[in-house]
Amino acid sequence: MNIFAKHLIDWYKYEGRELPWRETRDPYTIWVSEIILQQTRISQGTAYFHRFIEQYPDVSKLASADEHDVLKLWQGLGYYSRARNMLTAAKQVMEQFGGKFPGTYKELLQLKGVGEYTAGAIASIAYNLPHAAVDGNVLRVLSRLYAIDTPINSTKGKKLFSQLATEMVPKEAPGTFNQAIMDFGATLCTPGKPDCPGCPLSDMCEAYINNSVENYPVKEKK
Ligand code: ADE
Repeated sequence: MNIFAKHLIDWYKYEGRELPWRETRDPYTIWVSEIILQQTRISQGTAYFHRFIEQYPDVSKLASADEHDVLKLWQGLGYYSRARNMLTAAKQVMEQFGGKFPGTYKELLQLKGVGEYTAGAIASIAYNLPHAAVDGNVLRVLSRLYAIDTPINSTKGKKLFSQLATEMVPKEAPGTFNQAIMDFGATLCTPGKPDCPGCPLSDMCEAYINNSVENYPVKEKK
């Protein structure tokens, strides 16, 4: 395992957050949590996650739900297309995948509303497949570790960061690594005041070594 991954996973064992969807390897449950968390903070999303799983405990229950009821449950979360897409995706699982949640990254991408991030998160967390799950936290952490000046929102940057994140995922623990780097970005290597003095990676962080942490990530004005 590469040294960054090792330090991140060691950190995660002590400092990672205890989150309700981490008690399962069920792809449906992980999918629900990842869709909710895409545009919603954990503090707000957790209550919605519990209500959603209580009302629709598995993909067949969701597939046969009334759109009106799903949207009602979603009320207050915003980005309602997420809920509509989930209902469509649940029906896809029933009709195209025989009721069994797709088991590969490529198949996951076929589900409505599932992009590279979500497919990578489900593949790694539920199935331990070595895929990256690149969210804003991951972009920030990697841009600082390697002092990458390529804008994260440029075509070139997206490709570069995705490659880098994929290379970093350890085959032994893809899901743990992806959740470790997300938590690390969300709680230590934060946008505002990162805790560099308390960071287990600071002595190998290019941006920290160059005293330029606040310059990263670089964003292109559009
Ligand atoms: N944000 C979205 N998904 C997450 C996860 N699985 N762990 C931590 N933060 C997240």
